[in-house]
Amino acid sequence: MKRKILIVIGTRPEAIKLAPIAIELQRRDEFDTIICATAQHRELLDQALQIFGLVPEHDLNIMKPGQTLAEVTARAITGLDLVISKVKPDVTLVQGDTTSAFCGAMASHYRHILIGHVEAGLRTGNKYAPFPEEMNRRLIGRLADHHFAPTTHARDVLLREQINPEAVHLVGNTVIDALLWVRDRVMKTTPELPAGLADTIRDQDMVLITGHRRESFGLGFEDMCQAIRDVADSQSNVQFVYPVHLNPEVREPVNRILGGHPRIKLIEPLTYEPFVWLMNRATVILTDSGGVQEEAPSLGKPVLVMRDTTERPEGIDAGNARLVGVNRQRITEQLTLLLTCPGEREKMASISNPFGDGTSAIQIADVLAKIDLAAG
Ligand code: UD1
Ligand code: UDP
Repeated sequence: MKRKILIVIGTRPEAIKLAPIAIELQRRDEFDTIICATAQHRELLDQALQIFGLVPEHDLNIMKPGQTLAEVTARAITGLDLVISKVKPDVTLVQGDTTSAFCGAMASHYRHILIGHVEAGLRTGNKYAPFPEEMNRRLIGRLADHHFAPTTHARDVLLREQINPEAVHLVGNTVIDALLWVRDRVMKTTPELPAGLADTIRDQDMVLITGHRRESFGLGFEDMCQAIRDVADSQSNVQFVYPVHLNPEVREPVNRILGGHPRIKLIEPLTYEPFVWLMNRATVILTDSGGVQEEAPSLGKPVLVMRDTTERPEGIDAGNARLVGVNRQRITEQLTLLLTCPGEREKMASISNPFGDGTSAIQIADVLAKIDLAAG
């Protein structure tokens, strides 16, 4: 009998991080792999799935503009329950800390389905940062039967929380599988970039920016944008490239504060290939993204993390990342320092792989092939 694995995917990072597992499971005869997209994200999800050639068997299509957390939760959990009752998987796989991931775990628990949690054990210890992701991840940790920890730090967190050691699997982060695969492709052939972008950057220093965290909306986001504008004003030889997240709470301040600046290029979210190419080309990356923090060390890129705390201390320990909060002065100081002092950049630029070696999906598939399906 094939092992039936249901993979729940809601947002862009889940698609990128679950794609290597879906592809590996589809490759092996012992699995029947079914993908359910909640489509908590629509365009961003479709972009990411397409790069990896994944077509969900089920699509709940729940995204609404400006959706509240409660709305996403209600729509996702109701839709997932119907899919789970129909598919009757042996195991549901959820990834990370999104509301779709939490709903995938909760809905599976209601139907007594085994739950595998990919990227388990990350914690800030602050229930409101990242919000609501810290609690989503902790709650999935209580529900899951198998915990795929990306790093020794994450594994140790789970063990300290009294999770059965036999249910904790140290496997690295699948984002590195995806990154290495795409990096090799974009190294060979430059992907299609937005019109005029390559001519704008030429051989100049470039800062790549992303930002979307809910806990920073409002004043925090205004400060982040003001800091970027301050540095763009003072550094006339540097180009700034910002693929702007589709969330209206992000787009309004970004367009208002950064729009029209001659050296700040605001562009639509990129598919993964051009984004990886730009990360690799960047002088400095400025971000609040979880995935980007994980990708940067493998590319040897300095990252300033626009958050007060991170559940990914490995990037900071490796020396690639520094926390700069959402404070205008601190972001301005640190970004200016990195742009004006090559020595400061070099200190942060060594390539290391604290998050994995590109074999996580194989390791996870190996575990799924062996686990006792009767032990719930
Ligand atoms: C979600 C996740 C966050 C993850 C992020 C990745 C939760 C609570 N948050 O945050 O953990 O880091 O995705 O990007 O699960 N929108 C579109 N098209 C899209 C995507 C988003 O228009 O393809 C707009 C919509 O107006 C939507 C809004 O963005 O209502 C917010 O999307 P949502 O998934 O609720 O939250 P994110 O902030 O994207
Ligand atoms: N990413 C992308 N295009 C973009 C911005 C980001 O493909 O325009 C990728 C990035 O490389 C990483 C993932 O999307 O793998 C991160 O997604 P996001 O920042 O939305 O979510 P988070 O990681 O913070 O949950």
